[in-house]
Amino acid sequence: MSETKRQRILSGIQPTGTFTLGNYIGAVRNWAALQDQFDCLYMVADLHALTVRQVPAELRAHTREAASMLLAAGIDPSRSILFVQSHVPAHTQLNWILCCNSQFGELSRMTQFKDKSAKHPDNVNGGLFTYPALMAADILIYNADLVPVGQDQSQHLELARNIAQRFNSAYSETFVLPNGYITKEGAKIMSLQDPLHKMSKSDTNVNAYILMTDTPDVILRKFKRAVTDSEGIVRADPAEKPGVTNLMSIYSVFTGKDFEEIQREFEGRGYGEFKEAVAETVISALAPIQGEYNRILADKAYVDGILAQGAAAASRLADRMVAKVYKKVGLLQI
Ligand code: AMP
Ligand code: TRP
Repeated sequence: MSETKRQRILSGIQPTGTFTLGNYIGAVRNWAALQDQFDCLYMVADLHALTVRQVPAELRAHTREAASMLLAAGIDPSRSILFVQSHVPAHTQLNWILCCNSQFGELSRMTQFKDKSAKHPDNVNGGLFTYPALMAADILIYNADLVPVGQDQSQHLELARNIAQRFNSAYSETFVLPNGYITKEGAKIMSLQDPLHKMSKSDTNVNAYILMTDTPDVILRKFKRAVTDSEGIVRADPAEKPGVTNLMSIYSVFTGKDFEEIQREFEGRGYGEFKEAVAETVISALAPIQGEYNRILADKAYVDGILAQGAAAASRLADRMVAKVYKKVGLLQI
């Protein structure tokens, strides 16, 4: 076999709380699987989290928890670079350059900006607005080829490509144009209470999401309360039956069964039984991860050691890119 260079992957997740089942299915689960095929960098995006007001002590705790959860979910530090965004200052250095290469108009069109501004009208800060330029810096600084994210991030990714392209044509070929890597199944897991909106850890209703740390009792209870419809038939129909379809997606991810198989399996059986089956598969999928998580989280020195090693490895790559970009845009080198 010829020695071809492996493609590079970068992705990030914000430490704004405990990860949900949506984060796991849409992002983290795929991250672990991608390590076999790609050179991967995975990042806890703590700087992005600051675009919404955080309690400092909680942010610190959540950052270590996020790293521990990524390790528990199978990110292998001997194969991948796992780091915290703020530990690699080069990201913020490139961010400024990319801000100066982003347009007000395109940043204004980002749906996440519009959503979050509406949600936090008292704190529509500059960081929230330029958020996608920092995300572009995260990606472009490593020349990442592929960026595994959930559907909700595809607009930011498209913007990163546009910024890269614009920079390349203004200053000569510099950045690789990144592609999204969005898996079809589970790309968007919906809220259990309002299946027209995505499952989000910032939801005010705790029954809307499953946390990765929820106990079996809690998981079962939340699924039992999940909003469905009055038809009573387990079949997929995203428009008419978003709740049931969402549960089928979750069940499909953990059983490997497609929608038709699931429909056949639950023919003539009610939603009660179906919900219990979904809960059981989720409980058994999460059990080993939860065990690992508790073990890893208890070993602060181990986690911090991994993060220090990750920051050093990431910085080596990122610093080189920043030096190159600084030179290209005309910043004086002495
Ligand atoms: P966030 O929690 O917004 O930092 O998202 C972290 C990662 O999880 C991103 O790749 C998101 O696209 C993904 N993600 C978040 N919520 C969901 C969801 N409900 N379904 C699928 N993927 C999700
Ligand atoms: N914005 C992403 C989210 O909210 C997190 C993130 C930050 C990210 N930087 C990134 C994802 C770079 C992919 C690549 O989910």
